[in-house]
Amino acid sequence: MLTNAPRGTKDIYGSYMNTWKKLEGIVNDICENYGFKEIRTPIFEHTELFQRGVGETTDIVQKEMYSFMDKGERNITLKPEGTAGVVRAYLERKMYADAQPTKLFYLTPAFRYERPQAGRYRQFHQFGVELFGSDKPSADAEVISLAASLLKNLGITNVELHINSLGGPECRKKYNKTLKEFLAKNMDSLCPTCLERYEKNPLRILDCKNEKCKEVLKDAPLAKDELSDECKVHFEELLSLLDAMEIKYIVDPWIVRGLDYYTRTVFEFISNDIGAQGTVCGGGRYDKLIEECGGNATPAVGFGAGIERLIMTMEAVNGEQEYVPTRDIYVGAMGDNAKKTTFSLVNSLRDNNISSETDLMNRSVKAQMKYANKIGCKYSVIIGDNEIEENNVTVKNMETREQTDVKIDELVDFMKKEIGGKF
Ligand code: HAM
Repeated sequence: MLTNAPRGTKDIYGSYMNTWKKLEGIVNDICENYGFKEIRTPIFEHTELFQRGVGETTDIVQKEMYSFMDKGERNITLKPEGTAGVVRAYLERKMYADAQPTKLFYLTPAFRYERPQAGRYRQFHQFGVELFGSDKPSADAEVISLAASLLKNLGITNVELHINSLGGPECRKKYNKTLKEFLAKNMDSLCPTCLERYEKNPLRILDCKNEKCKEVLKDAPLAKDELSDECKVHFEELLSLLDAMEIKYIVDPWIVRGLDYYTRTVFEFISNDIGAQGTVCGGGRYDKLIEECGGNATPAVGFGAGIERLIMTMEAVNGEQEYVPTRDIYVGAMGDNAKKTTFSLVNSLRDNNISSETDLMNRSVKAQMKYANKIGCKYSVIIGDNEIEENNVTVKNMETREQTDVKIDELVDFMKKEIGGKF
């Protein structure tokens, strides 16, 4: 137990961390380009927020939340997704009073008690964006274009954008009725989960992976056939903006999404490289959620992308990124006397933004050089009594093996020139 991480969790380090940081850098750059500002909301919120915000009938709320009573008897939940907390912050911090639209992004851990498998964790991480205050198709196009740009910049090309419109509340109501009438004739063939969903959220039945249910659903009526003229135009306008940006998509009437809050546009980017859990990014419009959470009617649209799934896809495309640890210089000591000099030198080098290492293990000179090589130092120098007396050291370029004599008190300047331009 002591040396096993909880099921469905992952330690992030080494080469995986390198890829993670690269991804974070790209996320930050792209959000800057698109004018989305970062928001960090708490890891936990009042359970009620997710019950309202994610939806009582969803798998997340019914089965997957990490909820507990805190010591003050408050019902608390570790966030299972990013949107609800951002909506709460938008209302609580009165961001609606700022120039609209409000465009926010986040990188956050999220927690769902799901059955772990490749690409599915109990603690995972989401990059997400939320755009508040515009009901126009251009807002949908903006967030989809940001997602497409992210994937392109991560080198993920083997993905398909599947897009659909569920219509507004009126269309949803009409469609639910038509769908229920159809399903009522096929109840005997539906699995227990679908039977449960029949009353509460029939739309989710379309998501069922059970073969018998899939067979029934082949002939099911589709949401697109119940769209009002207004919703149809909204969807068509969005598609024409995607065409204008040359973002390829597949109109897919089977995309319904697992959360309750969607109205009109829903979309998923699905990777063909990482198996069953191929949805790297999912989102859509949620024009009623803010009212549902106690605010004034405010339209909104956004998406969430699983960082672990993005990295899986990057690795499937580019291979695992090699871990190449680098320091600028290793400053080794020969004998106890030299220790003080090496420590003071390493201190000055680090003060000048030159990454440096010295001996912390009392190793022999040979072992120190081996270590310097192993951790990937670009230069090395060994300092003993003679070097200190003569104020002279030999700096070795570990790659070219070239050696240069340098005065000890000029080592920092020498390295600044060699490493030049790093900062
Ligand atoms: P979601 O589809 O539940 O949507 O999650 C978004 C993404 O998070 C998924 O496409 C997937 O990449 C990743 N993900 C979900 N569950 C797991 C898991 N157990 N392990 C690893 N990755 C996972 C939402 O959460 C919405 N809040 C998205 C949104 C934002 N819609 C509008 N704004």
